[in-house]
Amino acid sequence: MNRLDGKVALISGAARGIGGETARLMVEAGAKVAIGDVLDERGRETARGLGDAAIYLHLDVTGEEDWNAAVAATVGRFGKLDILVNNAGLFLGKDIEAATLAEWQRLCAVNLTGVFLGTKLALPALREAAQQSPYGSAIVNLASTAGLVGSTQDPLYSMTKGGVTLFTKSAALEFARKNYRIRVNSMHPGTIDTDMGDQVLVTRARNLGTNDVEVARRQVIDRLPIGRMGTPTDIAKGIVFLASDDAAFMTGAGLVIDGGITAQ
Ligand SMILES: NC(=O)c1ccc[n+]([C@@H]2O[C@H](COP(=O)([O-])OP(=O)(O)OC[C@H]3O[C@@H](n4cnc5c(N)ncnc54)[C@H](O)[C@@H]3O)[C@@H](O)[C@H]2O)c1
Repeated sequence: MNRLDGKVALISGAARGIGGETARLMVEAGAKVAIGDVLDERGRETARGLGDAAIYLHLDVTGEEDWNAAVAATVGRFGKLDILVNNAGLFLGKDIEAATLAEWQRLCAVNLTGVFLGTKLALPALREAAQQSPYGSAIVNLASTAGLVGSTQDPLYSMTKGGVTLFTKSAALEFARKNYRIRVNSMHPGTIDTDMGDQVLVTRARNLGTNDVEVARRQVIDRLPIGRMGTPTDIAKGIVFLASDDAAFMTGAGLVIDGGITAQ
């Protein structure tokens, strides 16, 4: 189950966090992985830890040239591209009154433009690989529970992730209509223990008026039906599933892995 033997993946924002763990689990499942990020030192270190099955590529998801170069380097090194994970993302942690236009534009550039460009520019390679594969190629987009329901901490982040949720469905429909054999699905994590997860807790602590991150963490955990925060592994397992042929009948769908928070 969930094996990725012979598959090649490109993961944006995979120097650390959910993307880094996804790279590790994909290699464990038999894939070759290209790690794209702007954190070059951290990204190289992550790739080194995975041996010959992984490479690091400098990839700023907001730029067309970087995407073209990353796709070409992945295909150059591993021969093809079966899986794209649009994982790179930013959290702002400001409310509507405090956020500036420049901050909104930066958030859009990474969280929305990055997903559009990745999808568009990896498409030719994904299509080509799909022709050789019994179940086709796959794209997994990192949305969020904040792309399904409103966010109490970051309305602008929530707006971008809502965009990712619906872009996923539209891309799935377009590629199905064109018979490209590329499945597109979104992943919706709850609060996960990563650098971004820490940023969410800092924002919550500030909004509580205490700046006490441990109190904020306790509050998050108390509201979670499963009673703990998520780990990068919880999410990476779901991404591996969506990218694998076990999800062959899934497209335009969202997988919610959130400890039950959006069930209430
Ligand atoms: N951690 C959470 O609680 C949580 C919850 C829901 C959704 N998500 C989503 O999951 C994804 C991964 O988040 P994470 O928690 O691992 O965060 P993280 O901050 O640990 O990792 C994000 C990665 O994206 C990279 N990145 C940022 N801007 C980039 C750019 N312009 N080009 C390329 N890479 C860039 C960062 O350098 C970093 O390595 C994000 O899309 C995030 O919105 C996270």
